[in-house]
Order: sequence, then C-alpha cells, then structure tokens
Amino acid sequence: MSTKTVDLASKTQIDSRKIMTKNSSKSILSVQSLNLWHGKQQTLKNIHLNIPEKGITVLLGPSGCGKTTLLKTFNRLTDIYPDIRTEGAVLFKGQDILNKKTDVYSLRQQMGLLSQRPHPLPGSIADNIRYALKLKGISNKTEQNHRIEFFLQKVALWEEVKDRLKSSSGSLSIGQQQRLCLARGLAIEPKVILADEPTSALDPISSRKIEEQFKELSQEYSIVLVTHILRQAKRLADYVAFMYFGEIIEQGLPGELFENPQTDTLKEYLSVGH
Ligand SMILES: Nc1ncnc2c1ncn2[C@@H]1O[C@H](COP(=O)(O)OP(=O)(O)OP(=O)(O)O)[C@@H](O)[C@H]1O
Ligand SMILES: [Mg+2]
Repeated sequence: MSTKTVDLASKTQIDSRKIMTKNSSKSILSVQSLNLWHGKQQTLKNIHLNIPEKGITVLLGPSGCGKTTLLKTFNRLTDIYPDIRTEGAVLFKGQDILNKKTDVYSLRQQMGLLSQRPHPLPGSIADNIRYALKLKGISNKTEQNHRIEFFLQKVALWEEVKDRLKSSSGSLSIGQQQRLCLARGLAIEPKVILADEPTSALDPISSRKIEEQFKELSQEYSIVLVTHILRQAKRLADYVAFMYFGEIIEQGLPGELFENPQTDTLKEYLSVGH
C-alpha cells in the first residue's frame, strides 16, 4: 500500500454512521460497528450498513477492499478461517448472526450464496434442483418435478434444458451452470441472495441473462451483489455501498452516489471507469 493511497483514503474518509440514515427503507440485515481481523490485519473497519428488504444492494469497490469478506460474514462463511476475529453485530431478523449460538445451518439456508464460478453438483441437471428440494423435505416425485420446472423457469433456463433434464450438469455451458446454481439456491427458498461477482466468469450475453434474473428476483428477494464492474452496479443497484481499504466510505441511492460523489476516492473510481 503506497503512502499516497493511504493519505487519499484518510483524507476522504467519511464517518459511515453519519450517512447510514440515507437508507430509510425497512432493512433485512443491519450491520452495526463491524470490525474484522484476519490475524493481526484488520480487514473490515467500523462498518455500518442497513441492507433494505427486497431490491439489490451493491457492494462496490476495488480489489482487496473487503467486499467478499463482508459478504462472508452474512452467512458465517468466516467460520472456516480460524484466525478471524470480529467485533460488532450483524442483525438478521433481530438476531445477531455473529453470536456463537446462532444456528449456522439454518442461517445458510436463508442466505443463498452464488459465487464467482458456478459449482453445480455432480449428477443431472434435475438432480441439482432435487437435492435442494430434498433438503426442504419435499420427497414426492410429482411435486419435485413440478418445482424443478418452476425454478428452472424462474432463471430462464427451462426452455434450454427441458429436453435433457437427465443430462449431466457438467454438460451445460458455464453461463447455464451459473443459472442452474441460481435455481438450486432459489429452491432452498432463501430470504437473502448473496452474490459474489456472479458474472465474472461469464460471456456478455450470459452476464446479461443473470443480470435480468437478478432484476426480476429483486422484486421478491433481498439481494446483496458484490461487483467491481461499475456499469453493472449502475444497471442493477437500488442501494450502493462503496468500500475502500476495509471501510464503507460512501453509501446511498445510486442516483446520489454516482451523480454526486462526496469523496475524492469515489470521484476517482468513477472517473477511471470499470
Ligand atoms: N483467509 C484470509 N486470510 C488472510 N487475509 C485474508 C483472507 N481473506 C481475505 N483476506 C484479506 O482481506 C482483504 C480483503 O479481501 P477480500 O477478498 O474481502 O477483498 P475483495 O474486495 O473481495 O477483493 P476482490 O475484488 O479482489 O475479490 C485483503 O487484503 C485480503 O488479502
Ligand atoms: Mg472478492
């Protein structure tokens, strides 16, 4: 980290508590004074963020600023790393996700995660959705088939795969696999969809398809989307948090944030274009 960038970050820093009130809609997740350390390195610094119920909240920012780490705290994937320490709270339905007593299994069912690269399960296209349905306790075959069609329709994959539901999931293109993973995630009936750069491995047409799905799903779901693609953030965001070196240095409605950035850091980020 160069001295120049440190200076820039500290000069332009805004106390996020002052601006969190910009988001007045009802929130599904409320991040309060969150600090996170990887060993001795502090990765998240005094994060305050209310994620609105329904709609798309975009976490935007340059590589290494802490976007993925923040997303991981929402479904406690941070538990995988033994040297992580947190302070503060992430409230979900009034409960602190970070509390040791939180039922992580149930939490993860409510927080569907879509990662950068699709990870379909081995087995057929239909089996991928069936697996999720079984987790929900749906064992009746007719009901399963009905829902397999329903969720594949929901991600606009049905027409492409309806004649080969028994084919291996690996026979799909990467873009189709990502939509299959989204359908599998939806079949668990999550409350929140966490998506970490879900289009980064996709070609432009597949990316657009995923973006269109997100826009539609945002009517029903709360979506937290990590991206460093500015154009994607502009197309999709209902609310934006801009991160820089572990802090949210600006947050607000996309119109305000993109048209009238308050910090030099965001101005510079927007001017470079991504
Ligand atoms: N398991 C880990 N152990 C130690 N440090 C980590 C670990 N995971 C992430 N970090 C550090 O935390 C910081 C934030 O990383 P993170 O992956 O959250 O950034 P990001 O904004 O998602 O970046 P990118 O856009 O490149 O995906 C980085 O400095 C990274 O090196
Ligand atoms: Mg990341």
